[in-house]
Amino acid sequence: MNVNRLVPDVIYTIAKGLSDYGKLNSYVELGVYKGRTFKRVAPIAKKSYAVDISDKYFKNFDNIKNAELIHGSTDEFLKSNISKKMKFDLIFIDANHKFENSFSEFCLSLQLINDNGLILLHDTYPASQEWISEDGDRKCGDTWKTALKIKNDYSDVCEIVTLPFYHGISIVRKINKTEQLDWMN
Ligand SMILES: C[S@@+](CC[C@H](N)C(=O)[O-])C[C@H]1O[C@@H](n2cnc3c(N)ncnc32)[C@H](O)[C@@H]1O
Repeated sequence: MNVNRLVPDVIYTIAKGLSDYGKLNSYVELGVYKGRTFKRVAPIAKKSYAVDISDKYFKNFDNIKNAELIHGSTDEFLKSNISKKMKFDLIFIDANHKFENSFSEFCLSLQLINDNGLILLHDTYPASQEWISEDGDRKCGDTWKTALKIKNDYSDVCEIVTLPFYHGISIVRKINKTEQLDWMN
């Protein structure tokens, strides 16, 4: 079975939950490739951003309303939006799967995510040793280390759960330690 086949369904289901809760004004996908996930999620967000170093498949997304296609590196996109003081509700990190890259994308995303917004990371629980690689463009890279670092070092500002299937989908929610229900305030 191709374990990645169902990843768009999982990401879509999470996005749909946020949308039904009225909290999906903006969706960012870092690394979109052929758009299997982006094409599912973007139509239910008010505004979406597809970021990829390659624009080879951007023609696939031409007909999605309110979608911006950004041909460039994830770093450039995230840093420029920090400068513009932008905020997003859902960010899916799925570009280069080297620890250094995904961790840097996570740190930058944390500055851009709304309170109670979600950051998702793929490939954080490779099915076996053979799926781990030093090269972030192949297999799952070593992005699992990013999930571990978030769990150990960021528990003051976010909570994380890693679903151990489909090579791992981590769900990170930016939190305020003193409140659980955002509607209470
Ligand atoms: C695993 S694919 C993305 C799959 C897609 N998220 C999906 O669900 O179908 C990774 C993509 O990340 C892009 N990429 C890799 N490194 C990048 C970087 N530093 N900045 C922007 N895009 C990058 C690659 O060009 C590739 O299209």
